[in-house]
Amino acid sequence: MKYRRIGIIGAGLIGKAIYDEVLRCEQAEVAYVLASRAGRASMRSSEWLDPGLCVHDLEEALARPVDVVFEAAHADVLAAIAPRVLVSSDLCGFSCSALARPDVERAITESCRANGTRFFLPHGAILGLDGLVDGRDCIEDVTITTTKSAAGLGLQDSAEGVVFEGPAREVCRKFPRNVNVHAAIAIAGIGFDRTKSIVVVKRGTDEMNHRIQVSGKGFAWDFSVASRSLGGVTGAYTPRSAAGSVRRILASEGIVNG
Ligand SMILES: NC(=O)c1ccc[n+]([C@@H]2O[C@H](COP(=O)([O-])OP(=O)(O)OC[C@H]3O[C@@H](n4cnc5c(N)ncnc54)[C@H](O)[C@@H]3O)[C@@H](O)[C@H]2O)c1
Repeated sequence: MKYRRIGIIGAGLIGKAIYDEVLRCEQAEVAYVLASRAGRASMRSSEWLDPGLCVHDLEEALARPVDVVFEAAHADVLAAIAPRVLVSSDLCGFSCSALARPDVERAITESCRANGTRFFLPHGAILGLDGLVDGRDCIEDVTITTTKSAAGLGLQDSAEGVVFEGPAREVCRKFPRNVNVHAAIAIAGIGFDRTKSIVVVKRGTDEMNHRIQVSGKGFAWDFSVASRSLGGVTGAYTPRSAAGSVRRILASEGIVNG
């Protein structure tokens, strides 16, 4: 059985959803959860995390042998750890806006190739990545419009209207914590340079909305996902989606997890 020991990097909303799901699986165990000391007060890991599994030092975490690591911390963290993790285990990265950096994407691809390991892209807050992968050779245009509050984007209260319009590669640099959806759509579809991104600030909303418009040879899709913010960058659906990704990754190697 391949995925027996699981590493988790990040002890926030998504990290907790991953942790809870692994605990539900009888045949897999958590080897560590890397938690920063400055986590969100509302997500205090001491309240839900076994202290024996909680690690604050990256080197200490990476020294523990694991079969797969789930990253749910920050794009900079994914960028820093991915090539090293992939030397000896598979990796699932929720902060996939990191891959907008060509050096990071290259390092991940090369590490997988050199070590025979795999990088999993979770669908996170969005749906339909399978359709983009299948259609990518005949898709001509992809536009994603994200609408959020100024606070949700880390902008001043006075911000309003369109605050970004340009390629997905650039929006990932500008709002790395908020546009993982743009990154996932770009990776699955026609890439960071051809995928068009728009970010709109709407006052007084606690809802995040992503509209995805795709057109290709003889077809067009137009769909939206909306979710209420759980207080940070993550919406109400994503912890469920993260748990589903954990289940599917573990099950792919024979772990049946009702
Ligand atoms: N793929 C998607 O669709 C999607 C959706 C929502 C969020 N995300 C991303 O997933 C990640 C986690 O989201 P979340 O809602 O759980 O965030 P969160 O703020 O609730 O938790 C993030 C955790 O990572 C920790 N952290 C940050 N830097 C760290 C470091 N250097 N070492 C150890 N821990 C560190 C923080 O302290 C915090 O506990 C973020 O990068 C977010 O942008 C992706």
